[in-house]
Amino acid sequence: MRYMGLLETYKSYLPVNDNTPMLTLHEGNTPLVRAERLSNELGLDLYLKYEGLNPTGSFKDRGMVMAVAKAMEEGSRTIMCASTGNTSAAAAAYAARGGVNCIVLIPNNNIALGKLAQAMIYGAKVIAIEGNFDRALEIVREITAKHPITLVNSVNPYRIEGQKTAAFEVCDQLGKAPDMLAIPVGNAGNISAYWKGFKEYHAAGKSNQLPKMIGFEAEGAMAIVKGEPIREPETIATAIRIGNPASWKTAVEAADQSNGQINYVTDEQILEAYQLLAAREGVFCEPASAASVAGVIKLHKEGYFSGGESVVCVLTGHGLKDPNIAIKTAATEPLVVEDSEEAVMDAIRQLEGE
Ligand code: F0G
Repeated sequence: MRYMGLLETYKSYLPVNDNTPMLTLHEGNTPLVRAERLSNELGLDLYLKYEGLNPTGSFKDRGMVMAVAKAMEEGSRTIMCASTGNTSAAAAAYAARGGVNCIVLIPNNNIALGKLAQAMIYGAKVIAIEGNFDRALEIVREITAKHPITLVNSVNPYRIEGQKTAAFEVCDQLGKAPDMLAIPVGNAGNISAYWKGFKEYHAAGKSNQLPKMIGFEAEGAMAIVKGEPIREPETIATAIRIGNPASWKTAVEAADQSNGQINYVTDEQILEAYQLLAAREGVFCEPASAASVAGVIKLHKEGYFSGGESVVCVLTGHGLKDPNIAIKTAATEPLVVEDSEEAVMDAIRQLEGE
């Protein structure tokens, strides 16, 4: 049967009624790829939920299709969000699809190139503030409270509804719920959404167990781990450069109720996992996404696993979102040579010798 997107596929679990436009870019239905080498090395049954293969290249499409459909249903003409880049790309795309206006607020100079390109080409009104994501979200909340503009950050409950469908897919693809779900934590909406999804699917008799939820913040932005907001969050993983997560409380609940944890990884650990995923598993994600795998590697070193557990790592966004970091991180640069067979053969030998 032709896949018709999240609203159609999961309508019985979503706030979809006869008046809800069945908006879709065929989001969701992303692959669950087994990490063969890492599974062997870590003694785990490890999978990658490759959310970078959504229409705009991140998991945000799941929540945004729901939020924009509900905004349209309610007669809203304009949506608005603050973003480290992926939310704005998704908002801009679904606004274009749905025929509504879109305004995005981003932190100036702290969003990956691909994400900026997306918001612009989809036709959003893009405003870059001299301030970080947390400040942008405060401003968006103030403006949308006073004007007839729909807020589509994950504090909009429809976003969480849409995003919970990823947990349903994981259960269906694995034939069971995994023992653990590892996930990057930024504004903390996604970990909250997965936990809601796992609980609902379990309650509906569609899965056998509830996974432990293990979330990872970046060390320079680890507000939840520290237990206090961070005024100047800093990390190479700009997607999760957030110092005061909006869904803080529900993220802690997800970790506590599932007997999981919120932990952190360093930028170095993130980049190591990022490169390893691309070069040894053939899966290219953006740096923030690699926090999930970096976290599993960290916990493995600390002896957290007993061995053989099924673990799903959520790879939240596509690697092409941030080409600059890929080029900086890769060990080699292209060798420039003259256009002759001889020169190319020399170059191959030189590269092989390295
Ligand atoms: N990974 C990526 C690639 C993201 O873009 C984000 C969040 C996260 C992880 C964290 O998810 O916020 O639900 O805990 N990006 C938001 C944005 C903040 O504006 O695109 P979270």
